[in-house]
Amino acid sequence: MVGDNPYAPACAIDFYDAASIADPASAYKKMLALGPVVWLEKNNLHALCGHKEVVAALKNHDVFSSGKGVSVDDQVNKLIVGSSLNSDPPQHDISRKITFNPLSPKNVRHIRERIEKEAHFIVTKMLDKSCFDAASELAPHLPLTIVRDLVGLGDYGKDHMLEWGAATFELMGDPKERRDAAVNNLKGLRTFLEDSDTLNNLSEDGWANRATRLGIESGMTPARASELMRDYIPPSLDTTISAIGYGVMLFAKHPDQWEKLRNDRGLMKGAIEEIVRLNTPIRAFTRYLTEDINVAGVDLKKDSRALVVYGAANRDPARFENPDDFDIERKTIGHAGFGQGIHACLGMNLARLEMSCLFDSLADRVERFELDGPVVPGVNSTIHSLASVPVKVQLLN
Ligand code: HEM
Repeated sequence: MVGDNPYAPACAIDFYDAASIADPASAYKKMLALGPVVWLEKNNLHALCGHKEVVAALKNHDVFSSGKGVSVDDQVNKLIVGSSLNSDPPQHDISRKITFNPLSPKNVRHIRERIEKEAHFIVTKMLDKSCFDAASELAPHLPLTIVRDLVGLGDYGKDHMLEWGAATFELMGDPKERRDAAVNNLKGLRTFLEDSDTLNNLSEDGWANRATRLGIESGMTPARASELMRDYIPPSLDTTISAIGYGVMLFAKHPDQWEKLRNDRGLMKGAIEEIVRLNTPIRAFTRYLTEDINVAGVDLKKDSRALVVYGAANRDPARFENPDDFDIERKTIGHAGFGQGIHACLGMNLARLEMSCLFDSLADRVERFELDGPVVPGVNSTIHSLASVPVKVQLLN
């Protein structure tokens, strides 16, 4: 912005093209170099990318609303409104209150032993081979076994969680062809949620059954109450899977950081936040503006949408010194990888626990990771994922 010019600088990148998806960090750098708020001319959207601006928007949910959906596309938004992610208070608070309970720090601690056991199992399996793929073989195991079991869906639902999760994130971005394919994939989820057999097949003590029961007790129709399980199905898999694969890649590229962590497990908490900061599995969601507002000198108009770019905020040099460096001792407090404000990640305690059990188990046995081939990016409009991270390991004696 120059002088009193209320327009955002135009940015030439396409946030949803193959280049930005494969290498989001370069896209963030180009955006941030122009200013904290830019106009993405190819996507016809304002984007908030400065850390200060992103966090302020996330905390100002009255103006930056989620109630009309957080996808870039209005047709899609009509299909997804109503979940915790895609709602405003008071509806948001009612559903979140029901679905958060099993994910509270206290309740997540109760499942630590189970997660540790499963982490040990997969790490042993991987380390029995000298090479493995951290993205496709190691990373999916914990989310797929633990979360799938805890949610307690019947077999059909369990077997489709990964596909529904990826498709839900595809709905949030461009291009239209990928959104259309995702809508098609998600017809199965809709049928599943609407099928009366679904409720009968939920495991008695699973999170889905609990949420549905509490929803009905609080006066929701059975159909609306069964939708509550959308808080667990789509967001719990690809996000954590992405962060685990990315974390192993970072440690392979930065053996000094791995050595530090191996020798001081007190650094685990910070290491996980640093991985999530750099990876930022969810690149961005939109918000619908309920009022005109000026952000960093740029006028944003009521009834327009703005893209809130968590990934750029996490690499903003105004907030994080040398933001592209991987430093497990960095002060990451306030990063936007799990969001902020009332929509901050519902499952962050579980995601952190899964990651810390897995990296702990690896640190007990692995002296060093080395990349054993090219790292291949994954393709999803919203999730910054890796399809392949081939590594070989040197084991501790
Ligand atoms: C490393 C793993 C994860 C990352 C990086 C992540 C990231 C995020 C982010 C950035 C948001 C904020 C969305 C917004 O501002 O609109 C969010 C919300 C959410 N996440 Fe996660 N997430 C992860 C794991 C999980 C897990 C394991 C679950 C469920 C078991 C989960 C469930 C949710 C739900 C339901 C919301 C919406 C909350 C609300 O609107 O109140 N997430 N997540």
